[in-house]
Order: sequence, then C-alpha cells, then structure tokens
Amino acid sequence: MVRLLPFSLALPALTLAQITTYDYGCYTEGSNSIRALTGAFTSDFSAGGNSEAICKTFCTTAPNSFSLWGTEYGGECFCGNSLSQGSFGTFANECSTPCNGTTTNEKCGGGNRLSLYGSSPTPPTVTYNSYPAPAVSTIASVSCYEEPVGGRALSGDMVASDAMTVEACGNFCLNRGFKIFGLEYARECWCDNINNGTVSTATPTQCTFPCSGDSAQVCGGNDRLSVWQWV
Ligand SMILES: *[C@@H]1O[C@H](CO)[C@@H](O)[C@H](O)[C@H]1NC(C)=O
Ligand SMILES: *[C@@H]1O[C@H](CO)[C@@H](O)[C@H](O)[C@H]1NC(C)=O
Repeated sequence: MVRLLPFSLALPALTLAQITTYDYGCYTEGSNSIRALTGAFTSDFSAGGNSEAICKTFCTTAPNSFSLWGTEYGGECFCGNSLSQGSFGTFANECSTPCNGTTTNEKCGGGNRLSLYGSSPTPPTVTYNSYPAPAVSTIASVSCYEEPVGGRALSGDMVASDAMTVEACGNFCLNRGFKIFGLEYARECWCDNINNGTVSTATPTQCTFPCSGDSAQVCGGNDRLSVWQWV
C-alpha cells in the first residue's frame, strides 16, 4: 500500500532556505593562534572535497545556522557568527590555494588565510589587537618621510600589492605586530616599530603617488613614505 504524506507535512521538506552569498575577500586568522571563525569546522567532505558552496551548506544547514563561512588551505571549512580578534581583511593574492573539491579555479584561502563569505551584505566587524602596546584602535597620519641613504626607514616587514590602500597596509602591519606603517611608490607597504626615516622637508608635497588600490589616497612617492601610526 502506498501511503501519501499529508501535504502540510511534505511541504517543509520542499522548502529550500534561500541564503544569499556575499564574498568579503581574503582574511587572516585571529591573533594568538585563535581561529578567525570558531563556531564549527570540517575537513571531512564525503562528497569529494571543499568549495565555497560545500562549505556554505555545512555552515548554514541544520544543526548549523551560521552567518559566516570561510574556506582555508584548499580543504578546510570554518563557520562562525563573528570574527575573532586579530582577523583582518588582507590582500587577495594571499588566498590563492585552489579548492580541493572543484575543477574550476576557485580559490579556498591559503595557509592561515580564509576566503571569507557570509549572508549579510555588510562585512563582519574587525576588532583590533592590543599589541604592541598601548591598545591600538585607530590610525593617524604622521608625515611624509624620506628613506635613509642605503637603508629603509621601516624594515620590520613589507608587502606590495596592486590593491594597496592605507587601511590594507595598516591591517597588514598591525597583524604582524607593528604599530608604524608607511606606504611608498603607490603599491608598497612597510612596517616597523621604529622609524629610521627623516621627515621630508625639502617640499612638503613629496608624497604624491595615488595608492594602487584607491586613487583617492596617497601612497608616498619615489623613496618617499606616507607614514601612519596605530594609536
Ligand atoms: C580535501 O582536503 C581535506 C583536508 O585536508 C581532506 O580531508 C579531504 O580528503 C580532501 N578531499 C579531496 C577530494 O582531496
Ligand atoms: C634604526 O634605528 C635604530 C635606533 O637608532 C637602530 O638601532 C637600527 O639599527 C636602525 N635600523 C636600520 C635598519 O637602520
């Protein structure tokens, strides 16, 4: 005997949740070895590997109902509702590991880097670290500095990118433990906690290059750094 389910019982199973995916870009893990997303994790993909779509299904389907999901290191999927302290948006090229569950060239994060997605059009709030000290919460412009002859004003760490902005450089340096950062030659970001440069006094306007990632911002010049500081 075939027994049909009453319509009212069958309907919910046919109703698919419509969750829009927003792509927030590449994010770092949190500070002090804390994961950016701590709600749930899987690397066990019985269907054959990881992708944004697979990770989204894991993170948003009962018993999970998270608003953020991120793919990492090709084959890892993390879920959460907020970002842990120290997780920042970073440069897209740091998330360049192919997803191990697709044949497209979709990228699934990188080493300690998440390709981050969520269900809200607004990216998640970032909470800044409190290092080195004192607590830092915002960035302030310092001045235009000249590189020392045969050296670097800021030599703690650096990154170059065609997507360089003041905020991206600030986040990059802070996440590596540096409070002072400088933007040079449109696309370079230099970090340190000591500034060995000299204030560029010959002309007050020697930092004139537009940033490669936002032409409305200034990113130094030739041998000239637009220096900022976390305060
Ligand atoms: C994808 O990577 C995860 C984590 O390393 C692994 O568990 C899984 O077996 C991999 N899947 C495929 C299809 O390579
Ligand atoms: C920067 O200045 C500090 C303090 O004067 C000095 O110890 C350090 O060697 C300098 N670094 C560079 C790269 O010039």
